[in-house]
Amino acid sequence: WSRTAAKSDGVLGVGGVPLPELVREHGSPAYVLDEDDFRARARAFRDAFAGYEVFYAGKAFLCTTVARWLAEDGLSLDVCSGGELGVAERAGFPMERVGFHGNNKTPAELERAVALGVGRVIVDSFDEIERLADVASRLADARTSTTEGVGVMVRVTAGVEAHTHEYIATAHEDQKFGFSIASGDALDAVRRVHAAPGLRLLGLHSHIGSQIFDTSGFEVAARRVLALHARVRDEVGVEMPEMDLGGGFGIAYTTQDDPAEPEVLASGMSAIVAHECRALGIAEPRLSIEPGRAIVGPSMCTVYEVGTVKEVALDGGARRSYVSVDGGMSDNIRTALYDADYSATLASRASQAPASLTRVVGKHCEAGDIVVKDEFLPGDVRPGDLVAVPGTGAYCRSMASNYNHALRPPVIGVRDGKTFTVLRRETEADLLATDVGVTS
Ligand code: LLP
Repeated sequence: WSRTAAKSDGVLGVGGVPLPELVREHGSPAYVLDEDDFRARARAFRDAFAGYEVFYAGKAFLCTTVARWLAEDGLSLDVCSGGELGVAERAGFPMERVGFHGNNKTPAELERAVALGVGRVIVDSFDEIERLADVASRLADARTSTTEGVGVMVRVTAGVEAHTHEYIATAHEDQKFGFSIASGDALDAVRRVHAAPGLRLLGLHSHIGSQIFDTSGFEVAARRVLALHARVRDEVGVEMPEMDLGGGFGIAYTTQDDPAEPEVLASGMSAIVAHECRALGIAEPRLSIEPGRAIVGPSMCTVYEVGTVKEVALDGGARRSYVSVDGGMSDNIRTALYDADYSATLASRASQAPASLTRVVGKHCEAGDIVVKDEFLPGDVRPGDLVAVPGTGAYCRSMASNYNHALRPPVIGVRDGKTFTVLRRETEADLLATDVGVTS
């Protein structure tokens, strides 16, 4: 839950706004974004990682409001598509603080990024290096900082494969991102960027995965990336000024998860880097990180209205309630896609009824349309009740779909007892606007 979430007489409020009131005003379902919580988490990363550049990973959740908060609070922004770049542009986000990611950026996206003057492009393939060098030379005249060139980081795969609650170190990596350190491709990519006129080599970038609790994965990656950094100095003759260690810090979805505080992550990372740099005899590069989930994940919850309740018998005589809500896999695909765990609570009233094993499901035409797999909710949950699911800030709205022509829910900001619309609810007209077959 976000830090201002609290129940009073069984009614859940966030940011001083009781959720039944929020739903009366804005409808259901809705994502509820706790501004104070979001900004506190963003600043906690900024402060714990003082001296680092902290990029918020926009893929977790991005809109102009959030981009403005980040700009005001001194964070940088990682975007990974032309669309996300467009949000940054619309929000007036300082472009020198934008990093542009992606394994298949189009020439048009690269042109737009270079023309806007993004601070860094993180390159991910030899094709892209060539494409970016070409764009940089064509746009060189139009750019204000022509002499500097386009800042480039080289994304490398450190041979650390991170899974949700563990990591396994592997010799090769069979996935689409980055240049392999082990194969020599990473060093080759660095040479090509260094040699390209119009590109300015900033450093190496490593991102090992997402929702990671075991921080030793970051340490192994940092060591391998620093070793390459030292090789670049020795073999290419360049001292790269920066290094990015990516995002991926895990958050608590259920009470079983126990994420590390930003200070603990920061001191662990800084110690490893300092130690390795001493051992390698290299100057410490300026570090950056890219947390997404750890900032926005806990800052939002989703509120749903219950529509139907059904009891089913399980093997062995137990029973489970299926509580159907007015959203589902279209606003939170993570349960279906990653088998993710969420929790839920009755948000609109107190209940003394004994807890009963409940599955919160959506309204989509698919048996896998599950929001919360297992939760104990009061046994008297009924149509009209509100149910809230915490921890839905990251990769829920940003991965939402219009499956079954669902209208994507609004994001309603809350602060000091007031609500404000961050993203409005989609309308049927929004969806039909793209359907140009039969008009009128
Ligand atoms: N930097 C890079 C290069 C990334 O690829 C990502 C996430 C991040 C930073 C931010 O990671 P975070 O701190 O948010 O874990 N849809 C999945 C997560 C995909 C993450 C993709 N990259 C999910 O819902 O769990």
